[in-house]
Amino acid sequence: MLRTHTCGELRASDIKKIATLCGWVHRRRDHGGLIFLDLRDRYGFTQAVFDPKESPKEVFAVAERVRPEWVLKVTGTARKRLEGAARSDNPTGEIEVLVSDLQILNEAKTPPFEIDQEKEVGEDVRLQYRFLDLRRPRLQRNIALRHEICAIIRNYFHRNHFLEIETPILVKGTPEGSREYLVPSRLYHGKFYVLPQSPQQLKQLLMVSGFDRYFQIARCFRDEDQRGDRQPEFTQFEIEMSFVEQRDIIDVMEQCFIEVTEKVRPDRKIQKKPFPHLTYREAMETYGSDKPDLRFDLKLKNVTALVKGCSFKVFADAVSRGGIVAALRVPKGAELTRKEIDELTVLAQNHGAKGLAYVVLKPEGLQSPIVKFLGDDLAQKLMKEVGAHVGDIVFFGADEYKLALEPLGEVRKACARRFKLIDESLWSYLWVKEFPMFEKSVETGEVGAVHHPFTRPLAEDEHLLEKDPLHMRAIAHDLVLNGVEVGGGSVRIHERALQKRVFDILQISDADAERRFGHMLRAFEYGAPPHGGIAMGLDRFCMLLSDEPNIREVIAFPKDQKAKDLLLGAPSEMPEAQIQELGIKILEE
Ligand code: AMO
Ligand code: AMP
Repeated sequence: MLRTHTCGELRASDIKKIATLCGWVHRRRDHGGLIFLDLRDRYGFTQAVFDPKESPKEVFAVAERVRPEWVLKVTGTARKRLEGAARSDNPTGEIEVLVSDLQILNEAKTPPFEIDQEKEVGEDVRLQYRFLDLRRPRLQRNIALRHEICAIIRNYFHRNHFLEIETPILVKGTPEGSREYLVPSRLYHGKFYVLPQSPQQLKQLLMVSGFDRYFQIARCFRDEDQRGDRQPEFTQFEIEMSFVEQRDIIDVMEQCFIEVTEKVRPDRKIQKKPFPHLTYREAMETYGSDKPDLRFDLKLKNVTALVKGCSFKVFADAVSRGGIVAALRVPKGAELTRKEIDELTVLAQNHGAKGLAYVVLKPEGLQSPIVKFLGDDLAQKLMKEVGAHVGDIVFFGADEYKLALEPLGEVRKACARRFKLIDESLWSYLWVKEFPMFEKSVETGEVGAVHHPFTRPLAEDEHLLEKDPLHMRAIAHDLVLNGVEVGGGSVRIHERALQKRVFDILQISDADAERRFGHMLRAFEYGAPPHGGIAMGLDRFCMLLSDEPNIREVIAFPKDQKAKDLLLGAPSEMPEAQIQELGIKILEE
């Protein structure tokens, strides 16, 4: 080893020891003839001192040339720092190393941004120079935490008799949700592999093979629009189990999350154990979201029955068209300015609402653009129904189910931030269950699977399959942490006949089903056991446990928000010959 100690190692008990350290120059200060260098490595920082009176002359001369981010090897004696110079915020802060020998292992250009400061730096530069960005303490911490989380997860599943089985990355295109990345075949022109969106079908096939408890930390690829908590390639830790019911899957995963959370972030409390369960409808109608944040208590109220047939057309029409009217009471909301209410209205509209009706409860009476339509009586009844007091505001959403509730859910979150209602000391976990099996696309009107086509319907809803599929519920489960969906899964269909009925609803013809999912249908004919599973978004989980605002901060080499790798410069053009080999012709734009 080039070193005897790391830069995070020396303590007061090491005083008088001779140590050799290697690392990067984090900070450099000249003080009345003395030169101080903070030497940094993965483990921490140590202060190296060069004293013209005590360090050899040649060594001091070299120290004078040294600049930030140069790589050094220093040898010296650990000594106690001067009175008042000790730093309690650094584990090595009681000592410094008086340098007797210094070797420059490598020089460095001035970095495009300062490594030694937590200053905001433009993300493009950070990603382009990711190898430098990753030197910064924040990212060093995040990447180490991610490793720690993975180690606990692996250990947990190993202990619980899960087998980690790798599944292929070059698979067959069987669209089941988002767009797939294609890989052209060189040997078979015109044919393609795709990169898996998830190992979903393979893990189900492993159940058919009798592996019983499967686990993998798996890379997944989805060619979809990017957002803060989405990446084109991301990682799931995911399981599949045979001979189980939904509660068994939930139990195993819940214990894993408790173990990880309590080991890596014991400074915060898990709000409720066992985690609460809500049905999809309860979550939507109480919180306006299928991934509600329960760290604050604002609740929606369904007031459809009260406003049915009322004289305010917006409400009455929503009800008569089979929609819903919901109210959100915000205590002290009368403080909101006109401008803030307008901003909340825009927020609601950005999430699909046509407007955001409201009533403010002033000491002098109700103030609202809609009371004149509702009439005083009904307005008072509504205020009573939601338990509103003077000083509150009540917002309303009226529309089809999701369009009425989701915008109110966003207003709920915005008000929680505005009134500082979020208890940041909590890890708020909950399970959301009984999602709809199918939904109609707003754009195309086509019926699609909410989760994926292998999800099993609730037994008591199976009879609705041909009659009323949009009202069928699935044996599906999402795990939510602080308002973020960290995972989802389901009990699966394991019988060919039921799978075919579901394909029929999805308008997948026999020929199409055979072409896309033939392997699944065949497997179901050879003794498929009842099974189910779940997949967790590792990146999102790490983001939350690191208190980061987006998943790029917990991925060593992420893509940017336009799916570009700015470090490597991908995607990139390829030599013509290589493209020809694939039998591909690039069209001019
Ligand atoms: P699902 O599609 O719900 O389920 O994905 C599971 C979890 O993966 C995370 N996730 C993502 N994270 C980052 N970037 C993305 N683009 C992205 N997409 C999803 C989310 C999500 O909850 N095969 C099923 C699971 C199963 O049924 O077992 C599946 O993939 O946290
Ligand atoms: P209007 O009669 O369209 O001017 O609407 C009166 C009030 O109702 C305004 O405050 C609108 O923002 C609000 N509003 C309109 N449509 C809806 C809706 N679908 N849900 C909730 N509020 C609405």
